[in-house]
Amino acid sequence: MEKKEDPKDEIHELLQTLEQQTNWHGGRLVKYDGFWFPVVFLQPILSFQNYFKAKDSDVILASVPKSGTTWLKALTFCIVNRNIYSTVDQNPLLTCNPHTLVPFLELDLYLHQENPNLQHISSPRIFATHMPLSILPDSIRNNSECKIIFICRNPLDQFISFLHFSLENNLGKQTVPTLELYKAFNMFCEGIHSFGPIWDHMLGYWNAHLKDPEKVLFLKYEDLTEDITFYIKKIAEFLGSPFSLEEEKQGLIEQISKLCSFENLKNLEVNKTDYHIGVAKISSFFRKGEIGDWTNYLTPAMAERFQKIIESKMEGSGLTF
Ligand code: A3P
Repeated sequence: MEKKEDPKDEIHELLQTLEQQTNWHGGRLVKYDGFWFPVVFLQPILSFQNYFKAKDSDVILASVPKSGTTWLKALTFCIVNRNIYSTVDQNPLLTCNPHTLVPFLELDLYLHQENPNLQHISSPRIFATHMPLSILPDSIRNNSECKIIFICRNPLDQFISFLHFSLENNLGKQTVPTLELYKAFNMFCEGIHSFGPIWDHMLGYWNAHLKDPEKVLFLKYEDLTEDITFYIKKIAEFLGSPFSLEEEKQGLIEQISKLCSFENLKNLEVNKTDYHIGVAKISSFFRKGEIGDWTNYLTPAMAERFQKIIESKMEGSGLTF
């Protein structure tokens, strides 16, 4: 009988063939299918690609890390389950963090198991991913009717948010050392960062949204901040369950908006104490929640340099920041 290859050997062999870089904080990044990933996620990414079978009723929340994923998870969970938890005080968000209620595919479910059984999860299942569209399994992209909601954010705010998140969780520092800031920024401008290049990640979902807006909803963090009521309605409509007049009159949209607000979630006890995959403090997913925080860290020259890059990468796409 032929011996089945150990997945660890397979990864080891694959790694020999892939380009690698040391990240600004010393971690290892590997380039797979045009994108950079922390090397520890290569195995889960492959397992997710190989084994995940989407159902038509699935909802996939996609993003580059630090773009508002936690917020989108909370909002979508409330919108999808509003018939089950009709009052706010019954809502599981009060006792569970958003990342437990809506797990990441590659960062949670496939992290330690090659082929986890996801059949027992009641439909509609909501999953999240930081994978670029081109790397998603075919069953999500083409062979099912599942819906994809993508959220992105001004890349400079995303960069600063990610920097703080990394420092707090990996290095335990609260301030941003100048040397690391410059090193990280140079790599960011070259597209070498976790789940980057950010422009290719965003353009993948943007183009898919233009091609099939009923399949892919494209959101910007800044737009949600400006008019959350509009976007709660938009998400519900996109998922095929618009709010009824009765629900609107009951104030359900305002309740969801308040429950999922930055201040409310940040101050819940459960979000002060939990950890994500045992390493990232849940509290670190709620930092400032502001637009334009990059101005406190980056010089105008740095911003100008990045603006030129992003404009050239996005040219002709219709996507702007
Ligand atoms: P800052 O670091 O700029 O504060 P992600 O959830 O993708 O990891 O993104 C985290 C960013 O979203 C953090 O940005 C965080 O503060 C912000 N955030 C988290 N929950 C939010 C909410 N309910 N409303 C608005 N912003 C939120």
